[in-house]
Amino acid sequence: MATKKESQSKAKGLEDLFHDGLKDVYYAERKILAALKKMAKGAESDELTAAFEKHRDETEAQIERLQQVFEIFGKRPQAKTCPAIDGIIEEGQEILEEFKEA
Ligand SMILES: [Fe+2]
Repeated sequence: MATKKESQSKAKGLEDLFHDGLKDVYYAERKILAALKKMAKGAESDELTAAFEKHRDETEAQIERLQQVFEIFGKRPQAKTCPAIDGIIEEGQEILEEFKEA
């Protein structure tokens, strides 16, 4: 009995982990989308602007796909703060500002 109970709680743990990861990635993609819009505006070359816009469109599709995964998983789309992506975006903003001044 104890073994069965143990395996049930393990299975639930994995689902929770997946759900948590999904919320983390959902947060990250939405943050990236907002940053890409800013970066596209900040870019000085047409080629770079086009590259950011392409990535922006891809990111929009990723967000829609994640919303579908939430739906399949039977959960509403929900974001959970991801400090890792916040750090990357913060660094990107620093670079933008640094090169704007130059
Ligand atoms: Fe994260």
